Amino acid sequence: MSDNNRLRIAIQKSGRLSKDCQDLLKQLGVKLNLREQRLIAHATNMPIDVLRVRDDDIPGLVMDGVCDLGIVGENVLVESQAERQAQKLNANVTKLAKLDFGYCRLALAWPQELGQQPLSWFEGKKIATTYPEILKQFLKAQGINASTVLLSGSVEVAPRAGLADAICDLVSTGATLEANGLLQGETILESNACLIQNPAMDNPQKQALLDTLLPRLKAVRQAKE
Ligand code: PRP
Ligand code: ZN
Ligand code: MG
Repeated sequence: MSDNNRLRIAIQKSGRLSKDCQDLLKQLGVKLNLREQRLIAHATNMPIDVLRVRDDDIPGLVMDGVCDLGIVGENVLVESQAERQAQKLNANVTKLAKLDFGYCRLALAWPQELGQQPLSWFEGKKIATTYPEILKQFLKAQGINASTVLLSGSVEVAPRAGLADAICDLVSTGATLEANGLLQGETILESNACLIQNPAMDNPQKQALLDTLLPRLKAVRQAKE
């Protein structure tokens, strides 16, 4: 059974942010017994439960109050907020801190053999992405008419597979683009991991615990500087 006085934190189960999230929780003094395949891990030394989920699900879990806190990339947060606003759903979260890991860029890319291209090249093109809302806003602001193809994974193979002319995807080291013969263009969004909170959390016990964690977070970050 879930205990309503335990602070619930959502983190990515497996992916770019998982290791750093687990390290951060450890640095904050949260002792976890993380067993593979377990959705929920109960902290053994404080009333905290950690939910390990797909990163795309984290903003919604926090907005809906299923989790009190979440650690997620700003890229995923911005996309979820735009998506939920379009669906007239509650998209409120409080960003408590920008974290010092998970840096990446959301960038346009196209087949290398086409060489450098101006933004106007995208007019009338088809772009595969996991971030259609952010991409649509960018295209609109640039006055470019292009269509988007939603792919939740393997975006980088879309041009070769004939699904799209170009892509808009996350770039960290650039290895994925390189391996797929794609040339990196305009950056649309720069992103770091961030800590978000459900603004409606009104449990005094949870709040008291959060009040002890936030100064520790600050101390951990200062120690790294
Ligand atoms: C992103 C992106 C690429 C990769 C790029 O995926 O979709 O696959 O990282 O990194 P690189 O430039 O270092 O090669 P990510 O792991 O963030 O998560 P996803 O599974 O949600 O696509
Ligand atoms: Zn339980
Ligand atoms: Mg990927």
